[in-house]
Amino acid sequence: MFSEIAPRYDLLNRLLSFGQDQAWRRRAVELALEKGPRRVLDLATGTGDLALALKRARPEAEVVGADFAPAMLALARRKAERLGLEVAFLEADALALPFPDGSFQAITVAFGFRNFADYEKALWEMHRVLSPGGRAVILEFPPPPGGAFGLLYRAYFKGLLPLLGGLVSGSFRAYRYLPASVERFPAPLALEEMMRRAGFQARHERLTLGVAAIHVGDKPGQ
Ligand SMILES: C[S@@+](CC[C@H](N)C(=O)[O-])C[C@H]1O[C@@H](n2cnc3c(N)ncnc32)[C@H](O)[C@@H]1O
Repeated sequence: MFSEIAPRYDLLNRLLSFGQDQAWRRRAVELALEKGPRRVLDLATGTGDLALALKRARPEAEVVGADFAPAMLALARRKAERLGLEVAFLEADALALPFPDGSFQAITVAFGFRNFADYEKALWEMHRVLSPGGRAVILEFPPPPGGAFGLLYRAYFKGLLPLLGGLVSGSFRAYRYLPASVERFPAPLALEEMMRRAGFQARHERLTLGVAAIHVGDKPGQ
């Protein structure tokens, strides 16, 4: 499904989020780089926007972007070349990472975590490949907020967005899957609890009235 939507993925991100996706990624970059990591892994990197923003913000760090969709990775590599940024993009499954324990000081995932088939396993893998004192940053769409804004947002998210996404990408199933997966996703406090069970000291912040949320998990140590 992700390979199918890859060619129009960036355009639709900008369009459907009214440009907010880049601001949300900027906040994720700030939090991920706060402790000055030497090696950073961007999981479910897709077309590489977050990995490239991390490299731009901290050129001295080694940044790796990993994803299991080859079509997404091909676009990420092309973008890195165009921007002259050295990021290694490689094919890997977030549920079985090909890295030794403690390989990274920071791990990010933007809008990818929700798609993992097993959240607990993904969190254990992230915890395993982080070094002690390392930080995981998860940027996601939590289930829509309540109240009047929630009603408006649901109408957009479940009505207009799947239609526009389907028309522009040619994949109606992918943009029907998006709101359905968001409704099923654990609420921020539940995800925070899951992160604690995986060994993280966890907290979260809401962005744009709760449309997006950033979860920060610190691995105890040094
Ligand atoms: C919605 S895109 C997000 C891409 C990018 N992080 C961004 O911010 O735009 C989700 C990505 O997660 C990847 N993905 C989903 N499950 C995965 C897994 N188990 N291992 C690696 N990548 C995965 C998909 O291939 C897709 O590129």
